[in-house]
Amino acid sequence: MLTNQMQIVKATVPVLQKHGLEITRVFYEQMLTEHPELKAQFDPEAQKDGSQSRRLAGAILAYAANIDRLDQLTAGVDKIAYRHVDVNVLPEQYPIVGKHLLGAIKTVLGEAATPEILDAWAAAYGQLADILIGREKAIYAEQLEPAAV
Ligand code: HEM
Repeated sequence: MLTNQMQIVKATVPVLQKHGLEITRVFYEQMLTEHPELKAQFDPEAQKDGSQSRRLAGAILAYAANIDRLDQLTAGVDKIAYRHVDVNVLPEQYPIVGKHLLGAIKTVLGEAATPEILDAWAAAYGQLADILIGREKAIYAEQLEPAAV
């Protein structure tokens, strides 16, 4: 990720958070319309009251705000990774979430979402996704290993 992309991401976090609710609503609605099979992985109660979409997209925005010091967020990353393994999140699902998150940012911000801003957010999401995918891979592997006696 380029330095100026990090700056763009940090600079645009406040405006995205301001529209956070709308972005997360559009994100979730569009993603589950296109990928109804994902519904099974999400808690139905949390889907109904909208708290799930706030959690997932909200977390992505929050992490992106700290994109230049992700190494300090290990505890948070671990918590998400364990939860993801619980609900069987797979690496190939990351591009789906990424596509719809970017799509929602674009829809909600309209012309304010310049190509530079969208590219910077795509890069930030990719970086977060790589960290989580790596951690989850290790946790899945741990769980497959026979218990050491
Ligand atoms: C960079 C990408 C992502 C971030 C930052 C992220 C973040 C989070 C966070 C913060 C939680 C809540 C953890 C907790 O309960 O403590 C969560 C849960 C969850 N995430 Fe992700 N996530 C990402 C990608 C994905 C992807 C690709 C999927 C695949 C469909 C996914 C599906 C879920 C599900 C199903 C839950 C549990 C929801 C529930 O309790 O209903 N996430 N995620």
